[in-house]
Amino acid sequence: MDVPLIDLQAQYVSIRDTVRQAVDRVFESQQFVMGPEVAALEAEVAAYCQTSQAIGCASGSDALLLALMALNVGRDDEVITTPFSFFATASAIARLGARPVFVDIDPVTYNLNVDLIPAAITARTRVVIPVHLYGQCADMDRVLAVCRDLVVLEDAAQAIGAEDRGRRAGSMGIAGCFSFYPSKNLGAAGDAGVITTSDFDFASRVRRLRVHGGLTEYQHVEVGINSRIDAIQAAVLRAKLPHLDGWSNARAQKAEVYSRLLEGAKLNFRLDPPFIRTDGRHIFHQYVVRVPEHRDALMDHLKTRNVATKVYYPIPLHLQECFAYLGYKVGAFPEAEKAARETFALPLYPELTLEQQEYVVNAIHDFRP
Ligand SMILES: Cc1ncc(COP(=O)(O)O)c(C=O)c1O
Repeated sequence: MDVPLIDLQAQYVSIRDTVRQAVDRVFESQQFVMGPEVAALEAEVAAYCQTSQAIGCASGSDALLLALMALNVGRDDEVITTPFSFFATASAIARLGARPVFVDIDPVTYNLNVDLIPAAITARTRVVIPVHLYGQCADMDRVLAVCRDLVVLEDAAQAIGAEDRGRRAGSMGIAGCFSFYPSKNLGAAGDAGVITTSDFDFASRVRRLRVHGGLTEYQHVEVGINSRIDAIQAAVLRAKLPHLDGWSNARAQKAEVYSRLLEGAKLNFRLDPPFIRTDGRHIFHQYVVRVPEHRDALMDHLKTRNVATKVYYPIPLHLQECFAYLGYKVGAFPEAEKAARETFALPLYPELTLEQQEYVVNAIHDFRP
């Protein structure tokens, strides 16, 4: 049996007609940039995320960049974030000439360790970016409490529809930055992203920055970038959005099955299933387990059984070559470094079958360290 990490074909066959109709609609209109599909998607995403505004853009990476630009982050500013995330969380900060200041993670949730934030705050700190890693919200009440005088920007790229005490990801900080990369819970047919916010002035600024800082066409009040969401992507995302809750609930249900099967498997090595907060909604973008010893050997073993696995993320951001100038050394963030060594994701997608999950867990059970 083959168990891929994700099976986008399986999703596509179930929605082929609506996706094709959506794409046809855009071709018939010949309106490929901005226009009614983009406006409609923005309204639908804002409603889904419990915000008054949503602004589409070219990718999740650009969502972060645009949001930081709209907050006037620049040279000499410091932005606090996690070293255990996708590269774009930190590169958006560095691209603007600001300094990423990392804070270690909580080893249980893999999100920012809120207790460590106060010691990282200096007179130059402008923004704090918690990442809702793998689809589970950071503890936003505590983040907001320790960041009272700072702006909190949510990197919600992996967390559309996730909740913290009933509040949706992207609705708790000044704004939320989302990715519609094809493998996300809500994936486009290419790159796309969105920024959610209920701050009208912030939203207006982002709308201007994504069209070269233009107040009107050819009248530029500041230097922005070109980062709009394609109308085709907006139409595809609109076709998929009504399915999102069903897909995310199916992921969560399959995550529960994994955890139950793994518990029952009585493994002779340590494997920690993901921790799930009881006061939130985890949308399980990834199902990540921790294997303190023999992680790589277990992944190799699973590969021989045609079970795909992947490490998110093998090199913490503070140890990336391009950030050597920040001066962080090995050992600076022990929990992030340990997580990079000990964790990996199992296959998880809405169409994964019980038979496939049993096969994966049996293959794990057969592993002899
Ligand atoms: C946490 C996080 N932030 C930012 C991004 C960037 O999104 P994109 O790939 O759409 O540029 C991603 C994408 O994987 C992500 O996972």
